Amino acid sequence: MSQDTSPVPAGAGPVAGGPLLDVRGLRVEFRTRDGVARAVNGVDYSVEAGQTLAVLGESGSGKSVTAQAVMGILDSPPGFVTGGQVLFDGQDLLTMPAERRRRIRGARMAMIFQDALSSLNPVLSVGDQLGEMYRVHRGASRKEARAKAVELMERVRIPAARERVRQYPHQFSGGMRQRVMIAMAISLEPELIIADEPTTALDVTVQAQVMELLAELQREFRMGLILITHDLGVVADVADKIAVMYAGRIVENAPVRDIYRAPAHPYTKGLLRSIPRLDQKGSELYAIKGLPPNLLHIPPGCAFHPRCPIARPVCRTEVPPLYAVDEKRTSACHFWRETVGDERAAADRP
Ligand SMILES: Nc1ncnc2c1ncn2[C@@H]1O[C@H](COP(=O)(O)OP(=O)(O)O)[C@@H](O)[C@H]1O
Ligand code: SF4
Ligand SMILES: [Mg+2]
Repeated sequence: MSQDTSPVPAGAGPVAGGPLLDVRGLRVEFRTRDGVARAVNGVDYSVEAGQTLAVLGESGSGKSVTAQAVMGILDSPPGFVTGGQVLFDGQDLLTMPAERRRRIRGARMAMIFQDALSSLNPVLSVGDQLGEMYRVHRGASRKEARAKAVELMERVRIPAARERVRQYPHQFSGGMRQRVMIAMAISLEPELIIADEPTTALDVTVQAQVMELLAELQREFRMGLILITHDLGVVADVADKIAVMYAGRIVENAPVRDIYRAPAHPYTKGLLRSIPRLDQKGSELYAIKGLPPNLLHIPPGCAFHPRCPIARPVCRTEVPPLYAVDEKRTSACHFWRETVGDERAAADRP
């Protein structure tokens, strides 16, 4: 008998002590006419039930591609997973039979995208799209599905849900559409949600409301949440830990408090300095010099060296491994001691 037929125990939860999702050494490349773009080059990160991991990094650093490989929705070809493991509840999603993986993806993991308008079907009412999940996965009747859709819309605080359940995506504002996406994601009570820049397309006040909603639902359902963003300002309040990505690698992994207090990688330091601060009104905003590398030609040694203010000769030749800064933190910088030390010293000064 193939493993394919064994049922996926719904809501069984992770093995005691093990992370809900454990990504190890993940590699993804895009085979294009111009050459091979190495988009993900050995990513390690993990998230536990009830925990929020924020994945940070400039545009093009491989955040979305990593998430797509985890979810099993990578555009392939041209994208190929060429190495690593994606352990969900202790089982490697990359090697399990496709059907089994599809069932896990449907019921136990969900993804929220930046652009709700292009993720929703324009010719189906919001209610039908929300109800569809119950009809397909739970065999609910039309009437039951409609009632569930209203309940979900109320849960994500869409006003007048009973009337709006019949409306189409274009009749909703950006913020309300994103709430519909969140409702869809939580409909089957998944254990893990990956939210890829869920608020980027919204204006600032709406961003905060949507983030708050997501954080609240995450606590209520004790879900694991991976929050992908390029906005360090957003994550301070909601994340437990942060993985900073650069050129397809995690360059720093740390609990959120540690990273704000004393980053252990010059890239993280640069990102932090480039957040606008209320107490520094009028002063010019810092920007990391240069641009992220072209992934067809990643610089040798430390990929960040052309932009790093403290780069030395060794940085151009030796790829920094992920050094353990302490039991909860890693940094891929040869000079992490100096980086974290300077920052700690600065934080301790009165
Ligand atoms: N469909 C694709 N075809 C070719 N290359 C791609 C494709 N999608 C992504 N890439 C490559 O992967 C890189 C990382 O993309 P992405 O993960 O979307 O970055 P981000 O960190 O902004 O989410 C891109 O800069 C690009 O080089
Ligand atoms: S390894 Fe070198 S170039 Fe890379 S971040 Fe550290 S100091 Fe900068
Ligand atoms: Mg992206």
